[in-house]
Amino acid sequence: MSEIEHTVQLIYASRIAKGCGPKDLEAILDVSRKNNPSIGVTGALCYSARGFLQCLEGSRAAVNALYRRIVQDERNEDITLISYEQVTERTFGQWSMAYVRADGVDGRILNKHKVEEDFDPFTVTPKQAIGLLRDMARERAAFLARQQKAE
Ligand SMILES: Cc1cc2nc3c(=O)[nH]c(=O)nc-3n(C[C@H](O)[C@H](O)[C@H](O)COP(=O)(O)O)c2cc1C
Repeated sequence: MSEIEHTVQLIYASRIAKGCGPKDLEAILDVSRKNNPSIGVTGALCYSARGFLQCLEGSRAAVNALYRRIVQDERNEDITLISYEQVTERTFGQWSMAYVRADGVDGRILNKHKVEEDFDPFTVTPKQAIGLLRDMARERAAFLARQQKAE
């Protein structure tokens, strides 16, 4: 059987391990932005008080291998898969890893997806998860563009 390169999109939730602070978060984002372009992975990572919500997209092999590494990463725990599916198009194609925070997001985005600011990433549906991450990343991109323009 020939191996066709599918693009897959994986979304999971995890708890932030005790002792995982701002410095660890910075290190996670640094390594993601360094590694992901070379393995063809794009995505978004949402930090909320109740845990992480992350979407990884890329080839099945790259996404699976990265997911295995994250499962073993002691900075997070109780990883729970929310969705895993083949997609025809990436949602976060322009991001090596978009970083968004639930506590800094426009309330209208949370309302639109029917979640609270302190929403528990473990309780969102696959549809809510991708919608939230997509809209939060869009808001972040618009913010960064405005900031760049002002400079
Ligand atoms: C919540 C979370 C998200 C992460 N996301 C990524 C990612 O998108 N890309 C990445 O390369 N590493 C990510 N990591 C870090 C990996 O677990 C791992 O430390 C890193 O890829 C380096 O792996 P290595 O030491 O085996 O090279 C993440 C870790 C956590 C806890």
